[in-house]
Amino acid sequence: MIFVLNGPNLGRLGVREPDVYGALSLNDLAESCSAWVGERAEVVVRQTDDEAELIGWLHEAVDVGADVVLNPAAFTHFSYAVRDAAAMVTKGGLRLVEVHISNPYAREEFRHYSVVGPVATGTVAGFGFDSYRLALSALLD
Ligand code: DQA
Repeated sequence: MIFVLNGPNLGRLGVREPDVYGALSLNDLAESCSAWVGERAEVVVRQTDDEAELIGWLHEAVDVGADVVLNPAAFTHFSYAVRDAAAMVTKGGLRLVEVHISNPYAREEFRHYSVVGPVATGTVAGFGFDSYRLALSALLD
């Protein structure tokens, strides 16, 4: 089982800054994730603007034994609560890949640090929706 979890404002993909995030929607992303995974695993794609809900889903991943692809969005840069929940996933022996559609290191300075990165299994950033494909492929291989 793989959870693909998306943080705030990613429900606006396709509308939000298409020059940065592209023209495709969250639904398009969810369909692509299902197609990439195919029969190899069960994949659940979710998005929330709510920090508490995202943390609850990370707890759920631990409870059901799911690996996680996580785009924490802006929580990446400041949420110690999301970081601590992500640490429970990886310290519990599951894998968590941090993903970003854009390359935060090539953007504003406040995006240059991730509080989640140090507790993630690995990070993929800067490849558009393909960041998710690469993360899923790392978890499936
Ligand atoms: C993002 C990068 C973050 O800096 C930003 O806050 C987002 C999206 C990305 O996927 O490129 O919301 O995580």
